[in-house]
Amino acid sequence: MFKVAVLVGSLRRESINRKFAKVLEKLGQSSFTFHYVELGDLPMYNDDLWADPPASVMRLKADITAADAVLFVTPEYNRSIPPVLKNAIDWGTRPYGQNSWAGKPASIVGTSPGVIGTAVAQEHLRYLASIIGLILMGQPEVYFSFKPGLVDENFEVTDETTEQFLESYLARFEAFIRRVGEREA
Ligand code: FNR
Repeated sequence: MFKVAVLVGSLRRESINRKFAKVLEKLGQSSFTFHYVELGDLPMYNDDLWADPPASVMRLKADITAADAVLFVTPEYNRSIPPVLKNAIDWGTRPYGQNSWAGKPASIVGTSPGVIGTAVAQEHLRYLASIIGLILMGQPEVYFSFKPGLVDENFEVTDETTEQFLESYLARFEAFIRRVGEREA
């Protein structure tokens, strides 16, 4: 079982990205334990706060350190990532020399009601991931177009082909985490 720190870039109660994360959690329950990292109580990044670091920031860094891998589930905001996600990324990289993300295997997925399913936001996040030292899985890419009825109230995908695709994505992510772990050992 791999421990995955899951960062959902939406604070909305009815977030489709949180629902999508739950779909993946359910499909991958024999291989992963998902830990949903709380982003809503992180203050906006301010270097001065390191003088007396907020508990929420220290918790974020501990959550990342404790995880075998990181999964970003990002909405697309104006063709980029939401500020809550960028804020968490920035906190995780500091203090200088104590970057919590470095060397962690990671993957990016996301969903939107639109047809291109967060492709542009994911592209921005891929760039950031490379800068902060995550070891990012390149393929398969997951651009999930969240259509009415595609996910039911039990967080199950109603379309078999889509479900099979997500299962194969999770299998690839599991193999990727294992491979990175062996390389680092
Ligand atoms: C959006 N949305 C959006 N969708 C998209 O496909 N491309 C985009 O660039 C944007 N831009 C955007 C900006 C802002 C400020 C908001 C609030 C929304 C729509 C977005 O995909 C939709 O609201 C999703 O439901 C957001 O994800 P959650 O919060 O449901 O997970």
